[in-house]
Amino acid sequence: MKEQVTPYKTSDSKKEQVQSMFDNIAPKYDLLNRILSLGVDVWWRKQAVKHLRAYQPDHVVDIACGTGDFSIAVYKSGVAKVTGVDIANEMLVNGRVKLKEMDLDKGITLVQGDSEQLQFDDNTFDGATVAFGVRNFEHLEKGLTEILRVLRPGAPLIVLEFSKPRVFPVKQLFNFYFKTICPMVGRLVSGDARAYTYLYESVQVFPDGTAFTSIMETCGYKSIQWKKFTFGICSMYIGVK
Ligand SMILES: C[S@@+](CC[C@H](N)C(=O)[O-])C[C@H]1O[C@@H](n2cnc3c(N)ncnc32)[C@H](O)[C@@H]1O
Repeated sequence: MKEQVTPYKTSDSKKEQVQSMFDNIAPKYDLLNRILSLGVDVWWRKQAVKHLRAYQPDHVVDIACGTGDFSIAVYKSGVAKVTGVDIANEMLVNGRVKLKEMDLDKGITLVQGDSEQLQFDDNTFDGATVAFGVRNFEHLEKGLTEILRVLRPGAPLIVLEFSKPRVFPVKQLFNFYFKTICPMVGRLVSGDARAYTYLYESVQVFPDGTAFTSIMETCGYKSIQWKKFTFGICSMYIGVK
């Protein structure tokens, strides 16, 4: 990775800054997601879940689950049990309220934890997912290796993450939207001036495409696939233990 971009540019570690940023924006996170992605994030999640279903997992761990939207999509696809893990407690608190309202709190459990030091035994899960989380890890390789450890042999990790579109005029439009509109709307709705500036900056330095698949390979994943969604604004990566 080029450089470590952090939310608040303070002397705290990236992990501490990311955690407090998501704690800050948690009550408005779902609303902002829907507004800023114009609802497309729901479609991206659905596509990822379709690929996950091919492995017929019973128990999936959704890493960096936030308020649980991806956990919900995974569970609704027919997975018997989903465990969501996130470092930001406020995201989990908001997520649990949503699960209770939707009557999904029996099948989906949200627990606090760090992707770089998971509290689960080796070979626990039939599948793992991370939606828009890997970019926020302080140590990407450590997180990916730790996820591999808790997967059963043959089980997949499915990652959704923003990537950088390279074609004209999508690239230009995307940059304008992400750099100018998102921080403005993000600041107005969440009250956090930095959160959505960090979003743009972190996407710029994050390894996408083959740079990301190479890292997955180095971490020990096999049968790696990369699929672009919406002109490359979002990418899905699959790797198998
Ligand atoms: C952009 S949100 C994505 C939430 C959810 N997956 C979704 O699709 O809406 C990123 C999440 O990653 C979490 N996160 C960042 N670093 C983490 C880590 N090391 N371990 C666990 N969660 C982490 C943050 O707390 C935040 O909730």
